[in-house]
Formats: sequence, structure tokens, C-alpha cells
Amino acid sequence: MYLKELNILNFKNLESASFAFSPNLNCFSGSNGAGKTNILDAVYFLSVGKSAFSLTDRQCVLHGRDFFMLDASFDVSSKGAEHVVCSFSKDKGKVIKRNDKDCKRLSEHVGLLPVVMVSPADVYLINEAADERRRYINHFMSLTDSEFLGLLVRYNGVLAQRNRLLKQSTVNMDIIDVLDMQLSDLAARLFNKRIAAISDLAPVVSHYYKLISDDSEPVELTYKSEMLSGEPLYDILKRNMERDAALGYTSSGIHRDDLVMKIAGYPIRKYGSQGQQKSFIISLKLAQYEMIYRLKGFRPILLLDDIFDKLDAQRVKNLVSLVAQHKFGQIFITDSNKVRVDSLLDEVTDERKLFSVNSGTVTEVCLIYPSDAATDKAR
Ligand SMILES: Nc1ncnc2c1ncn2[C@@H]1O[C@H](COP(=O)(O)OP(=O)(O)OP(=O)(O)O)[C@@H](O)[C@H]1O
Ligand SMILES: [Mg+2]
Repeated sequence: MYLKELNILNFKNLESASFAFSPNLNCFSGSNGAGKTNILDAVYFLSVGKSAFSLTDRQCVLHGRDFFMLDASFDVSSKGAEHVVCSFSKDKGKVIKRNDKDCKRLSEHVGLLPVVMVSPADVYLINEAADERRRYINHFMSLTDSEFLGLLVRYNGVLAQRNRLLKQSTVNMDIIDVLDMQLSDLAARLFNKRIAAISDLAPVVSHYYKLISDDSEPVELTYKSEMLSGEPLYDILKRNMERDAALGYTSSGIHRDDLVMKIAGYPIRKYGSQGQQKSFIISLKLAQYEMIYRLKGFRPILLLDDIFDKLDAQRVKNLVSLVAQHKFGQIFITDSNKVRVDSLLDEVTDERKLFSVNSGTVTEVCLIYPSDAATDKAR
């Protein structure tokens, strides 16, 4: 699956831009603030139905205009062409159309044309509180497991009901007991799914970290949950009932779980250098990419925003070799450092394109044909 053509109107600082992309590597170079990340965000928007940077749809409209439109054509090997249009206007709100048909709900669209984005903003996964990491793992799992989101919505519904009861002056223990049974059942199913996904993901993260860092330090990704003890949530809830009633909320359950990230045995948040943290995040996202590929059977689009930033020369070299391999399908990569972009373009042997971005205006600089026979690896 790859993005063939894209037309952008009034999206952030991109007033009007048209692209015909390479199915392999597409590089964007230009100075700070030129609009490189905005192009990647437009591609992300087409896949996920919202910006990758916690912006509202309205904030993505070019200042002074009242709508934006992203019009794209994807090549999906099993189905031929997919025409996707995402637009937002002050009057009509957000509209997503696939092959001229309205997607009534975002969930009908998300996951069909998957992308994986690696961006400097991702360090939030290391530095922010546990709820951000849970949100990340939940989003990742809902892309790969169709049952997961429904179970999570039900769990959150029961949890909200239980918390409402706990806030009342006299707590109805009969109703709490029924809710505890439901919560315990849903928690067990969600816990099993999460633990299975993280067990699959963790060795792939270590594998990529090894490749990027020349095996300089081991990293670990593990799942932290009270339920790892094997005790049913029902029993834990009963044990903590007095505390929960005093607090007015449910203090145990899978809504309190976390992902633990370690480097050489120590928490990466406190002990990892900026380059090590960046290497970990890239490894995590590439592992996520691989999981989606394994489960869906086709390669997502890989969006690499400023990935070389903070990395030393050797890690940049390792990453360039990794990206240059035929492992990934279509790649979009931004860098303000033209020398690094050129070295990447030299390394890759497939057809590849370079775009220059300048104050929201994009020019195709060159299309480099493959030295070997063309491959259709991106399909
Ligand atoms: N809604 C908007 N309307 C107009 N301009 C916007 C809007 N949102 C963001 N911008 C502008 O987009 C520019 C940032 O673009 P972007 O983040 O893509 O830059 P970049 O090329 O990736 O730069 P860097 O190399 O620093 O990462 C800023 O100048 C910002 O003011
Ligand atoms: Mg940028």
C-alpha cells in the first residue's frame, strides 16, 4: 500500500501543494518552519482522521482561511486505487470520504490505511505520566485487534459507573458487587490482550535498538500491572473497597497499568541520554510498524520526522542503512540538514524523490531512478 498522489489546500502553512510520490523513499528538506512536518501531518491525517500533534481540526486550517482539504490517492494492492478526501470547514466540520462515500464514524476509516509516525514530539511517551503510555498502547492495539476497542469502551463505562457510586455518601454494595464482577471479567480479557501484544513487541524493540546503537546498551520494555500477580481483579477490588470509598474512585484495575522502559537496567526517563531516548522511541515505533505489518499482511506507510536529530554519526549511519534496506515500504522523511538527506539518497538504490520545502511552498527537486531493476516492494 502506498500514497500515490496528494493535493493539499490550506492545511497549516501549506496553501496549495500537489505531489506525485515515489512508492519507496520521499525526502523533504528545507529550513526550520518551512512546512516539512506539516506535510507528514497531512499524510497522518488522511490515515488517522486527525493531526498527530494534539491539534484541533480548526487549528490545522491555514490562518485566515475557513477550510482545509486533503485529497489523496492510495495504491492498495488488493483493491487497486483508494481515493480519500479529508476536509474541515467551519460550517460543515470534518468530512472524510473514501471512494466518494462518507465515513460516518472515524472508526470506519482508522486502521485501513495505516501509518506509523516517528517524531521528536514522541519523547512524551518517556517523559509524561502513565496515562499517555496507556493511550499509546490502546491506540496501537485498537489498530491491530478489532475486539480491543469495544472491550475498552465497556470497561471504561463500568468504571465510570463504579466511580460515580463511590462518590455518593452511602455506597450501595450490591450494585458495586455486580459492577466488580463485570469489571473483573473485562479487565482479565484486556489484560491478556495487552500482555500478549507487549510480549510480542518487546523483543522487536530490543532488536532495533541493537541495530541502531551497535548493541551498546540493552533496553527493556515491560508491562506493569497489579494483575500480573495472577489475582483476579474482583479480589483486589474487594480488598481495596474501604480505600476506594474514602478516595471516591477506583484505585486498582487495568486503567492504572503502565509500560516500563529501561536502559541498562535503569528507568530510561531518568537515566537515558537524549540520544538514547530518541533511539528507544525509534525502535519502539519500528517495532510497532513490524507488528502492524505482521497482523495486516501489508506494510504501513512510515513517516520519519527529523529522526536523525540528537543521534551521533554512527547511529545516523546505522539508521540510514536500516531505512535503505528493503524492509520498509513507502517512507517519508524530513530533515533540515541537506547533507544528511543527500547521504541517505545515495545509499538507497530504489526509485526515490527529493522535495524542497520553502515557506509552505514545495518543489520537486529530483526523481532518482533505481540503479537496479525497479521493485514493487511497497505493495
Ligand atoms: N494553521 C496554521 N496556519 C498557518 N501557518 C501555520 C499553521 N500551523 C502551523 N503553521 C506554521 O507552520 C510552520 C511550521 O511548519 P513545520 O512544523 O512543518 O516546519 P518544519 O519544516 O518541520 O520545521 P523544523 O525543521 O523546524 O522542524 C510554522 O511557521 C507555523 O507557524
Ligand atoms: Mg519539523
